[in-house]
Amino acid sequence: MITCANPSEQFKSYQAEIEKAVISVMRGNRYVLGKEVALLEQEFADYIGTASAIGVANGTDAIELALRALNVGPGDEVITVSHTAVATVAAIEAAGAIPVLVDVEADFYTLNPIQLKEVITPKTKSVIAVHLYGQSADMDAITSFCHQHNIFLIEDASQAHGAKYKGQRLGSFGEIGCFSCYPTKNLGAIGDAGLITTSNNDLATKIRMLREYGWEDRISKYPGRNSRLDELQAAILRVKLKHLDTDNKKRCKLARYYSDKLSELPIQLPLIRAEAESVFHLFVVQVEHRQDLLATLKKEGIMAGIHYPLPVHLQPAYKGRVLTAKNMSNSEKLAQRIISLPIYPELSICDAKKIVSVLKNFFESSFVYDKS
Ligand SMILES: Cc1ncc(COP(=O)(O)O)c(C=O)c1O
Repeated sequence: MITCANPSEQFKSYQAEIEKAVISVMRGNRYVLGKEVALLEQEFADYIGTASAIGVANGTDAIELALRALNVGPGDEVITVSHTAVATVAAIEAAGAIPVLVDVEADFYTLNPIQLKEVITPKTKSVIAVHLYGQSADMDAITSFCHQHNIFLIEDASQAHGAKYKGQRLGSFGEIGCFSCYPTKNLGAIGDAGLITTSNNDLATKIRMLREYGWEDRISKYPGRNSRLDELQAAILRVKLKHLDTDNKKRCKLARYYSDKLSELPIQLPLIRAEAESVFHLFVVQVEHRQDLLATLKKEGIMAGIHYPLPVHLQPAYKGRVLTAKNMSNSEKLAQRIISLPIYPELSICDAKKIVSVLKNFFESSFVYDKS
């Protein structure tokens, strides 16, 4: 079976290094927020190009703590996209703020900056730009809007570890960058983990307190929480960080292969901004007759995914409750048409060939494909 992502194959790639790192943690006597976390934080900050990085328990917490660090909370509005992992929106609510959702650009699937001026109000405190599928949002337009209106920019780079915009790594543009290190991510732990990046020392200090009960010298200065990162996950992430660029290159190579081989089919392939370098966390295409195609792929042992089947504003938990821009049609249309083809560094060219061949056969034998 060919799965959409495959963290266990990645473990096998680095098994000897990971096992050594894990055993060393187990033989030590510090299992949470120790040396491995501190080293990972420094190495990740250096990699992204920020002064600091802070390890936390997961990506959802990263966003919630980022908002809390910026004093964004009850009564404040936070603008983000509806076409994202629900976690982005859940984190806004966890901080006590009100999510205001805008549409995505039709070509790049990231925040449509034109709608920002439609939804901004005196209550708007922050914009969260989500770099979806490994591709940068329009950082020029979004950063200039945030500066102009004096609101905080947070980047949700959970799907974009290592990706760049105009040569600069994502997660270093806003006041704060947030990363999930869920196992399937480009930088994935063997369990839950998250990282926060910032070049603002005061924010870094506050986030370190917030992740552990708001403590300063064991006295709570802020109402905080427990969102500590453990040493085992940090040690594993340190091993994988060393290989991240190589792994991202493998993803890009597979993406080029798909784009090349599928260009003649009635499939809308992903487009990359001229200013951006994607790390292809996912390879998302748009098709008609998605259910038939998914069933055919499944019959051939290929498990494609859908990221995501419903925009957040239409999901039962949020419907009629979150504020949205007037026109959400791109998000709504995408949810009906997208398929994520398998992509991960260890996916063999042989498997990629099989996927291409199943897709070709599907469209060639399908009545919907008029070759004339
Ligand atoms: C864009 C985005 N934001 C936030 C998250 C939340 O991360 P986590 O699952 O680590 O809490 C994810 C992970 O699925 C994500 O893809």
